[in-house]
Amino acid sequence: MKLTLTVIKADVGSIGGHLAPSVKLLERVRRAIEEGGKGFIRDRYIAHTGDDIAIVLTHELGVESERVHRLCWEAFQEGTKVAQAQGLYAAGQDLLKDAFSGNLRGLGPAVAEIAFDERPNEPFLVFAADKTEPGAYNLPLYLAFADPMYSSGLMLSPAVGKGFTFTVMDVEHTHASRVIDLVTPEEMYDLAALLRDNARFVVEKISSRADGEQAVACSTTRLSHIAGKYVGKDDPVMLVRTQKNFPATGEVLAPFKVCHLVAGFMRGSHTGPLMPVKVGTSVSFFDGPPMVSCLAFSVHDGILTEPVDAFDHPYWDAIREKAARKADDLREQGFSGAAMLPYSELEYGGIKERMDVLEGRFHIRH
Ligand code: F6R
Ligand code: MG
Ligand code: MG
Repeated sequence: MKLTLTVIKADVGSIGGHLAPSVKLLERVRRAIEEGGKGFIRDRYIAHTGDDIAIVLTHELGVESERVHRLCWEAFQEGTKVAQAQGLYAAGQDLLKDAFSGNLRGLGPAVAEIAFDERPNEPFLVFAADKTEPGAYNLPLYLAFADPMYSSGLMLSPAVGKGFTFTVMDVEHTHASRVIDLVTPEEMYDLAALLRDNARFVVEKISSRADGEQAVACSTTRLSHIAGKYVGKDDPVMLVRTQKNFPATGEVLAPFKVCHLVAGFMRGSHTGPLMPVKVGTSVSFFDGPPMVSCLAFSVHDGILTEPVDAFDHPYWDAIREKAARKADDLREQGFSGAAMLPYSELEYGGIKERMDVLEGRFHIRH
């Protein structure tokens, strides 16, 4: 029987604006998973990053299991009731539809899942980002799985050096999943040509060319495409299996030292550095900065160890300072140029109304 790792995340309300969920809300979600998952969930872990709650589950029901997705949907609905009762901000924000219908696709919560035969030693990472979008993982994944400047295993390990198959999704194509498979190292430049555009092309999964095993699954939801308007940024989650035929944990973490500039930050409409943070970090400066956390687990027979917080290490303190400096550099220039997203990516519709009014006031000088 294959083991399935599922991570499902949603923002169903937070304290003091879009900062962090309350303890009561987290507890309610935890209890709902505990009680509702009896008999089919092997193990679970629930944590938050910024205003998003991530539910990590192990089970044997495969990806897109109706039972597993419904469990999470109902847990988030229970959580929403607590959020409402406590007056939390944006209660139920990411539950975009009224009714559950088979699986969570198109309903709002972000989903990443992998089903596989458990290795004797099975280390994996759960990444959760807030105040940014799914394409935020493009560059770190490219560097960890295709660039020997960051990932020494590509040179040093024959199995890792066989390369990887990247499945990339065109998230602008909303009525069906439009995907392409590219293999590295042969098609690295084609891959780069797609992955430079974080708003449109998003890594959905990565598999080893040594044994065909899947290493990575990312959520690709774009909330505005579901709701037709701004309802919050897409705050992606990602699962990465590491070691042996895959890059080592440290190689997967290494590219996050870049703190590359991503879309998100205040009102999902700005550019900011992706800051690697400890799990449970809340949102602050300018509703950001965009952040990513990482929990490292081992799993055996579907039972999880306690996690290690991968960015809770003195090394990353220096990197966080760098991210703060990069954020400051951009914030100094306010709305100007590269600090804000292009018109097509602005998440609030208000600017369109403003532009429409101004449009009518333009005149051609003769
Ligand atoms: C960005 C985000 C926040 C909000 C901002 C305004 O993803 O969640 O920056 O956009 O706090 O929120 P509203 O419009 O809910 O008052
Ligand atoms: Mg929110
Ligand atoms: Mg969020």
